[in-house]
Amino acid sequence: MARINDMLDRNWLTNDGPYVQEFEKQIAEFAGVRHCVAMCNGTVALEIAIRALSLTGEVILPSFTFIATAHALQWQEITPVFCDIDPRTHAMDPTQVEKMITPRTTGIIGVHTWGRACDVEALEAIARRRNLHLLFDAAHAFACSHKGKPIGGFGRCEVFSFHATKFFNSFEGGAVVTNDDSLAEKMRLMRNFGFRGNDNVIYIGTNGKMTEVCAAMGLTSLESVDEFVETNRRNYRAYQQGLDGIPGITLTAYDETERTNYHYIVVEVDEQEAGLRRDELVQVLTAENVLARRYFFPGCHRMEPYRSYFPHAALTLPETETLCRRVMVLPNGTSVGEPAISLISQIIRTAISEPEAVRARLAVSDTASPVKSGSVTRSTMA
Ligand SMILES: Cc1ncc(COP(=O)(O)O)c(C=O)c1O
Repeated sequence: MARINDMLDRNWLTNDGPYVQEFEKQIAEFAGVRHCVAMCNGTVALEIAIRALSLTGEVILPSFTFIATAHALQWQEITPVFCDIDPRTHAMDPTQVEKMITPRTTGIIGVHTWGRACDVEALEAIARRRNLHLLFDAAHAFACSHKGKPIGGFGRCEVFSFHATKFFNSFEGGAVVTNDDSLAEKMRLMRNFGFRGNDNVIYIGTNGKMTEVCAAMGLTSLESVDEFVETNRRNYRAYQQGLDGIPGITLTAYDETERTNYHYIVVEVDEQEAGLRRDELVQVLTAENVLARRYFFPGCHRMEPYRSYFPHAALTLPETETLCRRVMVLPNGTSVGEPAISLISQIIRTAISEPEAVRARLAVSDTASPVKSGSVTRSTMA
């Protein structure tokens, strides 16, 4: 509030104000890079990075990502070419990337899904060998490291999201970070309509500016990064304990030798072992007022316009297809504590211990009325 009052007194609300400048300085330091160009959100940051790198034709990316990664390309009429993932890491499989390259390919976007670095070195090697631009969607990966180095300094540039649902937020916000001086300068102009000076426009630009109030929130969030990590880590451990030994439930691991933000509580459901499908479990949790979400369901290649453009994409994405059927993400962050996690784990344990009863209740609620809160597992909960 002090920052917001300050901003109002100063009457400098946007257009590269002092909070945005300070925010950029601190983010660049944090990510260990020379430049941070703060933007209004991660999607526009991706769009500007893609345009500033002059990508055209086709760009390779995973289908197992948030739709914004693909849309940022298609928005500029660049074709997103969806590549399969490695089921062990949930990140793009470099051996598949190689197979997707055509004469029209100009770049690769690696995604550090769940804050775990994708195979940076293998992608760098391909990009170098095939003369392609490489950038990273690091929307999940603020305050994470790869081989001991902060995520932010890999590839030509990396893109963060500071959306309210992210580990660290500025209400809405995003940034491109880079060590490339001329790329940073170009993106800085592009985020302000392409203006260089008052009356001189030299690029196609857009309005990608971060506001002062968002930067104020970002600066305030930055002060609590260690606390956020600590809370998420404690919650992650509580989920580890709570979900331990439940058949068919695997909690995705984090590499404890790296810095990580523990933001995503990612659970894979093996329906054979669990006796329930992932979708049934999500239904149960939703009925109990738990915000469990399928990720990145159904996969970008099954969303429009890509589903119509590439109706057979699923044939080249078998691992993505499988993972999209298995993954759910459970609540985390500072508004979740150990009692809630213990209850969520108990709901999952109970549901899986009585799959037939749960399925019967779901069938009734499907045909009768929508599932009401508490209506699925309450009778079977201890
Ligand atoms: C992987 C990924 N990329 C891009 C984005 C887009 O970021 P924003 O919501 O800030 O536009 C998000 C999140 O929303 C994301 O999860």
